Amino acid sequence: MQIFAANWKMNFGGDDGLAFFEELKTKLKIKLNQQIIICPPATILRELGQSLDLPNLYLGAQNIFYQDQGPFTGEIAAAFIKEANCRYVIIGHSERRQLLMETDDMINQKIKAALKHQLKPILCVGETLAQREDNQQRLVIEAQLQEALQGIPKELLTDLIIAYEPVWAIGTGLSATATQVRSIVKVIKEALLALGEVKILYGGSVNGDNIKEFMAIPELSGALVGGASLKAASFESIINWEEE
Ligand code: PGA
Repeated sequence: MQIFAANWKMNFGGDDGLAFFEELKTKLKIKLNQQIIICPPATILRELGQSLDLPNLYLGAQNIFYQDQGPFTGEIAAAFIKEANCRYVIIGHSERRQLLMETDDMINQKIKAALKHQLKPILCVGETLAQREDNQQRLVIEAQLQEALQGIPKELLTDLIIAYEPVWAIGTGLSATATQVRSIVKVIKEALLALGEVKILYGGSVNGDNIKEFMAIPELSGALVGGASLKAASFESIINWEEE
């Protein structure tokens, strides 16, 4: 099964997002062996959740909080997201780790909250440029995985998706090379051997031109796409990579 997730980030949060979703539904040619996960801003999740009328098209949230309810101003509980008809949730995106000081411990708690409410986590891991220049990427990824999944029984993690997103490749137009991705995919596979088949995505400046190289990596299931998911034509060129 190929998985392509669209991370809209803080774009298309209102009527523009509703219209774009309708446009995507008419323009995307989703294949039987594909799952497309649209992750819009939380403000329109519920409305999109009511018009999920295409096979293999799913909704994901970009974040949740780890408490179920209470005095957490501005936060959104997993149960709210679940009720909006979301199936997936992105957890630990590097923008949240860096800009909002999200820690591995918070990420661990968020994964637990997602699982408790039957949401499938898309856990983002990735090294910074300084860490790669220091050749620390392997250690960084192993530590992020270990801390994010700490204390979670492996039978709960059958639907876990890992997105390898090197921080230096996100939104920069400078994607990782297939060789770099392949070697980190191997690290992830080894670290999570006990979980069996874990789905792994690559994210970081994915577009219709480079997707083919990434899809040639046998252990990779697909991509988490930011910028190129904001136009129907460029997202379509990614999910339609076999024909390009
Ligand atoms: P990008 O973003 O495709 O714009 O690099 C990817 C992501 O942040 O998930």
